Amino acid sequence: MEREIQKIKLQVTKCTKCELSETRNNSVPGKGNYKADVIFVGEAPGKNEDVNGEPFIGIAGKKLTMALESAGVTREEVYITNIVKCRPPKNRVPTTDERNTCQNYLEKEIEIIKPKIICILGNTAFNSLLNGNEITKFRGKIAKKNNQLYFLSVHPAATIYNQKLISVLKKDMRKLFKLTKELKNGKEIKIDIEYTS
Ligand code: URA
Ligand code: SF4
Repeated sequence: MEREIQKIKLQVTKCTKCELSETRNNSVPGKGNYKADVIFVGEAPGKNEDVNGEPFIGIAGKKLTMALESAGVTREEVYITNIVKCRPPKNRVPTTDERNTCQNYLEKEIEIIKPKIICILGNTAFNSLLNGNEITKFRGKIAKKNNQLYFLSVHPAATIYNQKLISVLKKDMRKLFKLTKELKNGKEIKIDIEYTS
């Protein structure tokens, strides 16, 4: 529900639960359609996001938008968020402690939106949500854990200096939204990785 999502946004905006609150300019709550079929989860806000308080609006964000467009999808149709909602200094990877402290916000976003599928963007989200690593080996795959489906892809920032990866991201997005359509039509889909418990 929109009101519940607004409530989390407000909590994130004011949050001082971890030390990232001391160095941020703005917290960056998730943004997008609260009725979305797909939630995208990145790592953490970067510089542009920190200045503006919105997720994925810098160069990496442009790559993501481009990849979505290649699948015929707009940003307004989906919901975009991050593992941690405040920028780590010098864009360092968020610590386990910071991730754990922030995770309740993401859990609530997922609980409210109830996406058909969660799209993991890059290693940090892969590691935090599914305890995975080496995303380049697993990208393009479908995982299931606690009755929630996940789709694995590379981080849009990784595509900035790598033309091959931009085609990979686009290919993944086309697969993801084809899959989403099939899920909506009640078609059974093949799970590549099943997590028990
Ligand atoms: N990278 C991320 O992981 N998230 C953003 O919001 C921007 C860049
Ligand atoms: Fe709060 Fe998360 Fe920001 Fe830490 S990163 S201050 S837990 S919103």
